[in-house]
Amino acid sequence: MPDTAKLILGEKSYDLPVITGTENEKAIDITSLRNSTGYITMDSGFMNTGAAVSNITYLDGELGILRYRGIPIEQLAEQSTFVETAYLLIYGTLPNKEELGKWSQALTENSYIHEDMKHFFDGYPSTAHPMAILSSMVSTLSIHNSWALKPNLNEAEKYRMFVLLLAKMRTIAAYSYKKSIGEPYIYPTDNFSYCANFMNMMFAHPSRHYEVNETLVKALNLIFVLHADHEQNCSTSTVRLVGSSKSNLFATISAGIGALWGPLHGGANQEVIEMLEQIRDDGGNVKKWVEKAKDKDSGFRLYGFGHRVYKNFDPRANIIKKSANEVLDALGIEDPLLEIAKKLEEAALSDQYFIDKKLYPNVDFYSGIILKAMGIPVNMFTVMFAIGRLPGWLAHWKEMVEAPDFKINRPRQIYHGPAINNYIPLDLRK
Ligand code: ACO
Repeated sequence: MPDTAKLILGEKSYDLPVITGTENEKAIDITSLRNSTGYITMDSGFMNTGAAVSNITYLDGELGILRYRGIPIEQLAEQSTFVETAYLLIYGTLPNKEELGKWSQALTENSYIHEDMKHFFDGYPSTAHPMAILSSMVSTLSIHNSWALKPNLNEAEKYRMFVLLLAKMRTIAAYSYKKSIGEPYIYPTDNFSYCANFMNMMFAHPSRHYEVNETLVKALNLIFVLHADHEQNCSTSTVRLVGSSKSNLFATISAGIGALWGPLHGGANQEVIEMLEQIRDDGGNVKKWVEKAKDKDSGFRLYGFGHRVYKNFDPRANIIKKSANEVLDALGIEDPLLEIAKKLEEAALSDQYFIDKKLYPNVDFYSGIILKAMGIPVNMFTVMFAIGRLPGWLAHWKEMVEAPDFKINRPRQIYHGPAINNYIPLDLRK
């Protein structure tokens, strides 16, 4: 294959370097194009724009492949934990025993949030959306960690920031839930694992006995591992963009949380459950809803279906569907929403519209069923996604700020507004 691409513009031709990835993916490097030709490239929605050369995650949307640092997602889902996967994503290799011990210990020690921060929770109305609380509280962490506000952190400071964010975001999430139901905050406990600690902070109560359920801890680990990274998705690109101004990591992650909140991205898991409930309340006729999703005028989409990158199947969806069945079986729960989800999937996958447009269930289609079985309220689903995606955000931020070609991200545009115009004083305007 050629290592340069030729661009012919009028009479002139230009050689542009071709970049080849590990799996033979090809890109044409157009960095020099504007200087040499005066042209920019247009790609609305970044449908075909490579924003980074990255060593973190490989995915092939056609073949349904997802690997973190080369390790297939199926292996990580089966054998790893979220804490270990977070280290893998951020530092590039699986930790040895000593590294994992230190990492886990640091996460435990950093679980507590400053006592003063509890007053901020008190100020939020109980109706506040937990994503709003999460993004503001992550930003608020900067108030108590002014050491981390400088533009460049050294290795040790980065490590400290990573464990701080991974540990405290989970506590903030649990506190936001306790706030919403008016129950006392439950402090983190040192002898619990990461996911068990989260479950305990969510569901324990000073006056009730609460036993952390190992099946749920395992399922939560799985959900977090499956969400941990997904290369240049909307929220990760946001993290890269905001971080590229050398904004501090609290503000940067808070921006990522904002991007994740949207229903076309992380907010889809909440939309899926609400959609399944709507279908159930409407009598459960899935065919009717599939027809509605095909009708552009209805404004309705099948949430949890379709993906910008996966055009065959989402490997995470297959794993999570299996887990949804296992969790419900283990808990002895019969959730009619799971049945509706399965019927809806079947109806959509055999429908020509969905076949032609290559629309398949994505990771969010079944994750909500498990989260619901755990007792996580629907408006916290996207918060769960945010906790899971945090290692990916941190890994991409680290990779970006350490890259030799680091630059502030700043796309260009083609201006299509009015040509030069004159200012008209107010009393002369029509
Ligand atoms: N239901 C019905 N039709 C759909 C759906 C859907 N879920 N998704 C896409 N389509 C149709 C579109 O109407 C469009 O049709 P057209 O070509 O006739 O105009 C075509 O399929 C392509 O869709 P786009 O929106 O252009 O595809 P894009 O890659 O921009 O969007 C997205 C991908 C946002 C995920 C989209 O499929 C969607 O809205 N899905 C529902 C929301 C969702 O589940 N989001 C979670 C994504 S996974 C994640 O973030 C973890």
